[in-house]
Amino acid sequence: MNAILYEEAYEMSQYFLHGGDYNPEQWLKYPEILKQDIAYMKEVKANTFSVGIFSWSALEPAEGKFCFDWLDEIMDTIDAIGGKVILATPSGARPAWLAQQYPEVLRTNQAREKCLYGARHNHCLTSPVYREKVRLINEKLALRYGKHPALLMWHISNEYGGDCHCKLCQEAFRVWLKQKYGTLEELNHAWWNSFWSHTITDWSQIESPSRLGDQLVHGLNLDWRRFVSDQTIDFFENEIAVLRKYTPNVAITTNMMAESYDLAPFRGLNYGKFAQFVDVISWDCYPAWHNDWETTAQLACKVGFINDLYRSLKKQPFLIMECTPSAVNWHEVNRTKRPGMHLLSSMQLIAHGSDSVLYFQWRQSRGASEKFHGAVVGHDGRQNNRVFQEVKQVGESLQKIKEIKGLNKYSRVAIIYDWENDWALEDVQGFSKQGKQYVKTLQQHYQIFWQKDIPVDVITCEQPIDEYDLVIVGMLYMMSEAFMEKLTEYVTQGGTVVMTYLSGIVDKHDLVYLGGWHKSLQQLFGIDVIEIDTLYPKQTNSIIMDSMQYEVKDICSVIQNNSAEILAYYENDFYAQTAAVTRNHFEKGKAYFLGARTHHDFLEIFYSQLIDSLKLTSSWVEKPHPDVSIQTRESDTMMYYFVMNFSHEERWLTITESGKDLLTQEECHKQLRLSPYQVRVVSVKK
Ligand code: GAL
Repeated sequence: MNAILYEEAYEMSQYFLHGGDYNPEQWLKYPEILKQDIAYMKEVKANTFSVGIFSWSALEPAEGKFCFDWLDEIMDTIDAIGGKVILATPSGARPAWLAQQYPEVLRTNQAREKCLYGARHNHCLTSPVYREKVRLINEKLALRYGKHPALLMWHISNEYGGDCHCKLCQEAFRVWLKQKYGTLEELNHAWWNSFWSHTITDWSQIESPSRLGDQLVHGLNLDWRRFVSDQTIDFFENEIAVLRKYTPNVAITTNMMAESYDLAPFRGLNYGKFAQFVDVISWDCYPAWHNDWETTAQLACKVGFINDLYRSLKKQPFLIMECTPSAVNWHEVNRTKRPGMHLLSSMQLIAHGSDSVLYFQWRQSRGASEKFHGAVVGHDGRQNNRVFQEVKQVGESLQKIKEIKGLNKYSRVAIIYDWENDWALEDVQGFSKQGKQYVKTLQQHYQIFWQKDIPVDVITCEQPIDEYDLVIVGMLYMMSEAFMEKLTEYVTQGGTVVMTYLSGIVDKHDLVYLGGWHKSLQQLFGIDVIEIDTLYPKQTNSIIMDSMQYEVKDICSVIQNNSAEILAYYENDFYAQTAAVTRNHFEKGKAYFLGARTHHDFLEIFYSQLIDSLKLTSSWVEKPHPDVSIQTRESDTMMYYFVMNFSHEERWLTITESGKDLLTQEECHKQLRLSPYQVRVVSVKK
C-alpha cells in the first residue's frame, strides 16, 4: 500500500519537487504580493508548495466557522501554473480560541506546570478534545481538497516532538505499561525497582519522569520515551484516519528533523518506528555551512550521514521538506550560503536520494520571530538579487537532471544507528560523560567511506542486514538477543561485521547482561570483554598494528582472547600486550572487534584493508579525493555520478568511463575538472 502511494505521488509530479513552505495567509491583505509570488514561482521553476502548515486560525477563525476562500484561490492559482501542493494539516499550532475554550489541549511540562497558550508544537498528545478538533479540520480539508488537481500529498502537522505530562497522559502511560508488562512484578523487575526502595505496589503510583520526582530510573526513562513515540504515532494515526478514508490514493508524509545543527538524528521520537506509518519520508535539513569549527567537507560528510539514515528508513527516495536558500535565524550565528553553495548543497541532497529541494520559506515574513530567516523572496521583493538567482539556478538544474528523479541508491555497507540505544546511552552514568559520543563515533566511521566515495546505508537494528557485505555496529550498548542472533546468522552466511567498544552490555530493559560479555557475542567474536577502562580527556594509550603505533583515547576495552586473531595490542597500562583489535573467523564470515576509540588514522588503515578484501571500492574514479564526494543514483541502464567539490580549491579527478555532465552538457573523458564548490552530475551508460 505504502509503496503504491509513493509511486502514485511521484507519477503526479514530472520533476524533482522544487518550492517549499508557502504562507499566503500572512499576506492576505497584500494582494499585489500574492500576485508577485505567482510570477516569481514560475521564474525560479518552482513547482511544489507546502501550504497550510500553521493556518488553523485562518481556516477556522472561530469555533465551527470555516473559511476556505483564500485557500481555494491559492490551490486554483498554483494549479493554473502547473504546480502542486503538499497540503498540511494544521495541528502544529492552534488558534487562541481553541486553547481558551478547551484548556486541556495545552501541554503540561515535566515539572507539572500547565503551559499557557503560545508558541507552537505545544499540544497534549492524548487530549480527546484536541484529537477531535484535529480530526474535524482534517476532514474538512480532505472533503474540500481531496480531489483538487493541485493536491500532491498530505503534510501531517509539522515536526512532531516534545511530550506532555498532564493527567490524561499519565493515565495513558499507565495503560501502555499495563499492556507491555501485564503485572507490576514484571515492571518492577524490568525497572530494577528494588533499588532505592522504588517498588511500585499500585499502577497509580507511576509518574512520568520529572525533575521533581524520578529521572534516574533508567527503565522508566526508556519506557517514557517509547510511550511518547507511540503516543505521537497514535496521534498521527488519528490525524490521518480521515485522510485515508476520503483520499486513499494520496500519499502521506510528516516532516522529520535533526538534533539542532550538529545533524545528529532527532532524539525525541523513534523515527525508525515512525517510518513504518508514513508513505514517504521527508525531513528538514539545516546544516551550519561555513561555520568556524569544521571544514566544509567535514560538515558535508555529516550531511551525508543523516541523509543516508533518513533515506535508509524506507530504502527509497525521500523528500527534503525544508532547507534554506541562504541563512536560518536560529543558529548561534546565521551565516548565509556563499555563492555556489546553494547549488552544491542542494545537489548533495539529491545525490543522497532526495527527490526534492523544498525551502523554508518561500517569502520572508514581515513580523514575528522568523522575519530574518532566509527565503526565496526577501523583504526587498526583488528577483535580481543573488539568492533569488541561485534558487533559479537550482530550479533549472533540477530540470536538467529530471531523469534521475525516483531512482534509488544502493549500498553494500551498513552502519547501525538505533534510537533506543541513543536514549539508553544518554542515560548511562558511568564511563565518561564527554567521552560517550555515540553519533560522533558513527559519523567518524562513516567518514572513511564517504571520503572514498563508497555508498553507505545507515539502518536501524530492526532492518534486514543480509544484503550487505559489511555491517558496522558502533557502540550498540543496548543490544537485544534477537539482534545478536541476527548478527550471528549474518556472519554464518559469510557476512563481515565490525563491532566497537561499549556494545552488547544491556538488554532492552537497560538491564546488564550477567556472567561476562554475552555468550553469543563471545562465541561470534572469539573474545570476552572483561573490563572497560575509561580515560580522562587528556589521557591516551596506544595500540600497535602491523608494527605501526596508533593513539587511542576515551574508552579501552580489556579483552580476554579466546579464539580470535589479535590484530592490534595495547602498548601501555595494566593491560599492555593484550588484545585491542581482533578478528574471528566464524563459519563463512568474519567478526572484527575494535576495543578502543581510535583516531581517523587507524580507521583509515583498518577499513582500507577491509575495503580491499571485500572489493568495495568504486571503480569509476582512479583516486578519490577526500573532500570531493561522489554519490550515485542508478537505473537499470544508467549510473549517475554526483561529483561534488566541497573544497575551496580546484580539484582534478581521473575517471575510468566517459559520460556526460547533465548540468553543462559537456562530454567528460578521463580528466574531470571541478572548480571550488562545483558540482557535476555525470551520466554513464552501464
Ligand atoms: C523548521 C520548522 C519551520 C521553520 C524552520 C526555520 O524546524 O518546521 O516551520 O520554523 O524550522 O528554520
